[in-house]
Amino acid sequence: MHSALTEKNIELYDKYVMKTYPKADILFTRGSGCHLWDGDGNEYLDFAAGIAVCSLGHCHPAVTKAIIDQAQKLVHVSNLFMNERQPELASKLISHCFDGVCFFCNSGAEANEGLIKLARKWGSIRGRYEIIAMNDSFHGRTLATLAATGRSKYRKGFEPDTLGFKHVPFNDLEAARNAIDSKTAAILLEPVQGEGGIIPATQEYLEGIRRLCDEKGILLLFDEVQCGMGRTGTLFAWQGYGVEPDAFSLAKALGNGYPIAAMIAKRKLEGVLTPGTHASTFGGTPLASAAACAVVDTLCNGGVLENCKKQGAFLAGLLKELMPKHACIKDVRGKGLMVGVVLDYPAVELLPILRSKGMIALTAGETVLRLVPPLIVNEDDCRKAAALIDAALAEREASAK
Ligand SMILES: Cc1ncc(COP(=O)(O)O)c(C=O)c1O
Repeated sequence: MHSALTEKNIELYDKYVMKTYPKADILFTRGSGCHLWDGDGNEYLDFAAGIAVCSLGHCHPAVTKAIIDQAQKLVHVSNLFMNERQPELASKLISHCFDGVCFFCNSGAEANEGLIKLARKWGSIRGRYEIIAMNDSFHGRTLATLAATGRSKYRKGFEPDTLGFKHVPFNDLEAARNAIDSKTAAILLEPVQGEGGIIPATQEYLEGIRRLCDEKGILLLFDEVQCGMGRTGTLFAWQGYGVEPDAFSLAKALGNGYPIAAMIAKRKLEGVLTPGTHASTFGGTPLASAAACAVVDTLCNGGVLENCKKQGAFLAGLLKELMPKHACIKDVRGKGLMVGVVLDYPAVELLPILRSKGMIALTAGETVLRLVPPLIVNEDDCRKAAALIDAALAEREASAK
């Protein structure tokens, strides 16, 4: 196995870093496009992009330039004052969306926390506070977003759960309908479930959910932390379905690795969160906003979304071709470059084999190999990835005999 972990790194990590992640076996020192290099100079094909974060590829020149230029002018100013870049970013996002307003923060969990607070504040004068979320969803690690998350394993040990959440099966319209009562304020879902196993909502389901929310007079909230910002081939995943939420969250790829997240709400919700009811010290600083402005411009003007659709279909096609050869592949599913290879054994077993062959990938759920490469990936890289997966599956099969 490649490794550039020095004894010093390991010693400092072991002693001083809280162990909330499994122990890493690679130390990366450089990235460019779809490639990463470890400290020994070994090259890796990166089909993880952080975890669907570096969608324009590592160190994209437009983002790097925006960060450098802004860092030389002004890095931070409190939101008690205005900065040049935040309104620019908000107007860019809204110009690609519906008429509305943005709130900026720093992480996916914080953006979703914002959605939850928005729904509760909106519901507070209507006697409604409950949020219906989906089984197998993932919304973050804060206490409220954990309560919204539809997998109880993440909540274990952190009880009591934050009140006000109910879970129903995803892609089941009747279950959602039956769960709504006089206390329901909103339905929250990921248009394409990420951590749960790369499960796209069906078209009928998402359209049905929109109609249901309208009929019942409740809010529809989308978590686009993972599936947003071009990942599925449209800037926002909901645009690929033609189904508008009342508000939605963005994070991960919004800054291509520079931390920034957003909650975007329709104009009708503009007055719900008023001065003093919600805030974030680092939300939408000039530096973060400058990075995100460069991301939005590059994603929307550089043919990246078209490439995502094209390469997503190409990659899924190559992976489907592996199915007759590897009986362990049960399905290949996803949308755009959010691709899941469903196996009949824990997908985590493949990751070290892939790493040893020079490829970085992820898992989703227990049995899904998750591929979320930069959206600038080309056919050659997709071919290489499929060949490496083919070889890794064969190695796993040989060792299981
Ligand atoms: C759909 C979704 N929502 C929320 C989150 C939480 O984001 P963060 O880790 O930035 O808080 C994630 C992270 O994986 C996610 O995939």
